[in-house]
Order: sequence, then C-alpha cells, then structure tokens
Amino acid sequence: MTATILVADDDRSIRTVLGQALTRSGYQVRTTGTAATLWRWVEDGEGDLVITDVVMPDENGLDLVPRIRRVRPDLRVVVMSAQSTLTTAVKATQRGAFEYLPKPFDLNELLAVVGRALAAPPAPAETPEQAEAEEEKLPLVGRSAAMQEIYRTVARVTATDLTVMITGESGTGKELVARALHDYGARRAGPFVAINMAAIPRELIESELFGHERGAFTGALNRSQGRFEQANGGTLFLDEIGDMPPEAQTRLLRVLQEGEFTSVGGRTPVRVNVRIVAATHRDLRALIRQGLFREDLFYRLNVVPIRLPPLREREEDIPALARHFLSANRQKGLPAKILDAGAVERLKAYRWPGNVRELENLMRRLAALYPQETIGEEVIAAELAETVAGEPEPVAGEPETLAQAVERHLRAYFAGHKDGLPSPGVHDRIIQEIERPLIQLTLTATRGNQIRAAHVLGLNRNTLRKKIRELEIPVVRGLG
Ligand SMILES: Nc1ncnc2c1ncn2[C@@H]1O[C@H](COP(=O)(O)OP(=O)(O)OP(=O)(O)O)[C@@H](O)[C@H]1O
Ligand SMILES: [Mg+2]
Repeated sequence: MTATILVADDDRSIRTVLGQALTRSGYQVRTTGTAATLWRWVEDGEGDLVITDVVMPDENGLDLVPRIRRVRPDLRVVVMSAQSTLTTAVKATQRGAFEYLPKPFDLNELLAVVGRALAAPPAPAETPEQAEAEEEKLPLVGRSAAMQEIYRTVARVTATDLTVMITGESGTGKELVARALHDYGARRAGPFVAINMAAIPRELIESELFGHERGAFTGALNRSQGRFEQANGGTLFLDEIGDMPPEAQTRLLRVLQEGEFTSVGGRTPVRVNVRIVAATHRDLRALIRQGLFREDLFYRLNVVPIRLPPLREREEDIPALARHFLSANRQKGLPAKILDAGAVERLKAYRWPGNVRELENLMRRLAALYPQETIGEEVIAAELAETVAGEPEPVAGEPETLAQAVERHLRAYFAGHKDGLPSPGVHDRIIQEIERPLIQLTLTATRGNQIRAAHVLGLNRNTLRKKIRELEIPVVRGLG
C-alpha cells in the first residue's frame, strides 16, 4: 500500500516542492497551508506521516505535535522550521516529533527522514508532564548570532550519527554541546561516555579506550571493558583529542576505518555501534603542521565542525548567562543576587580568558562573598581587577616577551579550570608544552641532526634522545 503523507506549511512554494519530490518518490501527498486542516485530517484518521512547519497562520505546528501524539500515537511527525534555535529543535524532539529539520533543508535528507519515519517501530507515548519537566532544563543559554549558528548545526546533526568535532577555548561550553548532541539526538536512550585524553596517563589511554585482557600488561589483573564498548548504542565523547598520543591516534584511526577493534592483549575483534563526538581547545591544524596530530585522523573526525566562539565575541550573551548562573546559585541554596546596569556593563567589557566557566565562577563568588542583594559596578570592578591587575596586557608596538606570553597563557589556563585549579600533574604538563616546541624547532634548525641539536640545546645527546622519545617528537632525518 502506498503511504500517504500530510504536509502543512504556509509557504506555497515549499508545499509545491515537497509535494513534487514526495510524489516522485512514490508517496501519496496531501498539502495544506493551515494547522486546522492538518488537524482535521489527523482526526479523520488520514495519512501515515505528517510533515509540518512551525509557524502557520492559525496555530503553531509545535503545539500540534503532542495533540497528534495523543490521538494517534503511531502517526509520525516530522517538524521543519526556519527558526532554528536549539529550543525549537529540542522542543520538537521533546514533544514527540520523530525528527526536526531546520530550513532550508536538503530534499534528499528529507526523503531519507521520511523513509526512516515510515519504517520505524512505534515509539512509546510520553506523558505531557514528562515532556514539560524536560523542557525546563534547556542546557545552552545565549541568543547571540554566533550561538544561533551553533544551535542550527546542533539541531541538524541531532537527526544524524555524523561525527562532530567541537573546538573552542577552554570554558566555552564544548562539553555541554557534546552532551546536548547526545541528549537531544536519536541515541539519547543509550549511554553517554566521556574520556578526557589530557587527564589519563598516556600509557593507559589505549587500554582505557579499547579495554584490556587479563595480564595484558603489568597490573592488568582482570579483563576490563574499554570506553568504546561501554558506549555501545550511545555516544563516545573524546575530550581533549589534541592531547592524544600518536600511537593511540593511529589505533583510533584504524578503529574508525574498520568499525571494529581488539582490546589490548586481545585477539577477537569487537564490533560496536558508537557515535563519536570529539573536542579540543587546541588548534589541531597547528598540531598537524608540527607533526603532533595525524591529518588523516583529523579529517575522519572533523566531519561536522562546531566552533564555539569565545565569550568576548558574544558579549550580548553575558547578561543572560549571568542571570542563568545567579538563579542556578539560588537553586543550590546560595542567596539571591541581582546585578545593576553598571555591573552588567562592566561584565560585558571584560575579556573573559576563562570564558563561560570564569563567568560562572564569578557569579558563584558574588553569591558567596557579598552580603548586599544588588551587586554594583564597584564590586565587579574589584573582582575583575584581581584577575586583571597582575596581567600585563601586551603593549601595542612592544613585542611581548616569552615570559609574558607564558604567563598570559597560564593565567587563562588556571582561570579556565573549576575554582582556578587544574588537574594534578600540571607542572610536568606545562614543562612538556614548552619543551616540545623548543626541541622540535631546534631539530628543524639543525635539519634533524640530533648531535648538533643536543649541542645547541646544551643537553647531553642521550638526554635529548630520551626526551624525543618521551615527548613523542617525530624524527625526520636528512632534511638537507
Ligand atoms: N551556553 C551556555 N549556557 C549555560 N552554561 C554554559 C554555557 N556554556 C558553558 N556553560 C557552562 O560553563 C562551564 C564550562 O563549560 P564546559 O565544561 O562545557 O566547557 P569546555 O569548553 O568543555 O571547557 P574545557 O576546554 O575547559 O574543557 C560549565 O559549567 C557549563 O555548564
Ligand atoms: Mg571540556
């Protein structure tokens, strides 16, 4: 039997385009420009699938979704909208739409969605209370143009399994976006498993990712499941992917290409179904140029790039974010605070090296430390001065010294961590950051000649060799 598709959109040209495309694909189609007609058809038991716009002259298509689900739980609804905020996308999903498509959409994508919707097994109906409770906790605050663009992308990819690469400075919300991709995507019922490459000792990363067999290495007392396996049916979030050591990169690439892996010390290949989301605050292209990140792995992961802008590039989001964090404080039992206009202006003028996390921490500090309910400009100025005072801004015209540059980076690094405290082992991590480019550049300057490089560096040859190995610096010989 041919499936009948009901299309509602107040834009005649869209009705025509959709009608033609669907008819060509062998479906029967009925189109209307009003929600009322669509609703009548649904009540009359017509159609096997609904495709509806959000803004229509008589009623909002999103409001129709729960009503349709109530009277005909088996009837799939695909929502499309030009208002691509995360809210629209998420509301559509939460109210029980099968899929959300931001306009303009790709016809092939739409046809694929229609095919999937008609083939999908019936979904359990959600109670309206459930749907409403969910709606309260929309995760991403901010309506700046830059964030709208992000929501658009997020909304688009929630309907797919495409690999997403999230980049952005520390504290810009990369993890939050990764979670939103999972929570509002088709895999939300599955696990969300995160692994942070920067927080795990390098030699343990492969075993963390792929698991290990008993006795695979000293200390491997039992068989252990890796994160890949734990994430089966859900999302694997590879955080700080730029910190992944080279051998692990090679292995990951192979796994992504072949769709299966073997655990450390294991033989039988394991097949899992995971969606990959990766994130980093580093410049991967620069790492590729320095030979520290595999270009082929980059292209595998960078299928859908999402770049989160630093907070200073979306200062119009600052007031809403500040309010959001102040009200979150209250829910945690901290006293209520209000910012006066001067305070808000002051916040907007600041550079926010630690981005949203720094703002969040400041709002918590305000609630904890200041007795007055209304926070004025002086308080903000004093609080921000603490951070800014010791921070020599590079003076225009005068070149920044290495020490100044390092200090600037370190300040941002500390500010970017919860309560200004990086994870343990920071000394070695930072020293390596400096040692690696130093040795690398010296090697380049000596055209790969390690004896000369050791001499220039003032290091013993064996020490240099050891460092090259430890820092995993690629050795290129005979450059000249
Ligand atoms: N748009 C936003 N709306 C509300 N909260 C946000 C937003 N962006 C970030 N946050 C909050 O700011 C904090 C930092 O965000 P998150 O941990 O996602 O950043 P990140 O980019 O992963 O940082 P890092 O690079 O340091 O890991 C979190 O507490 C998060 O909830
Ligand atoms: Mg993070």
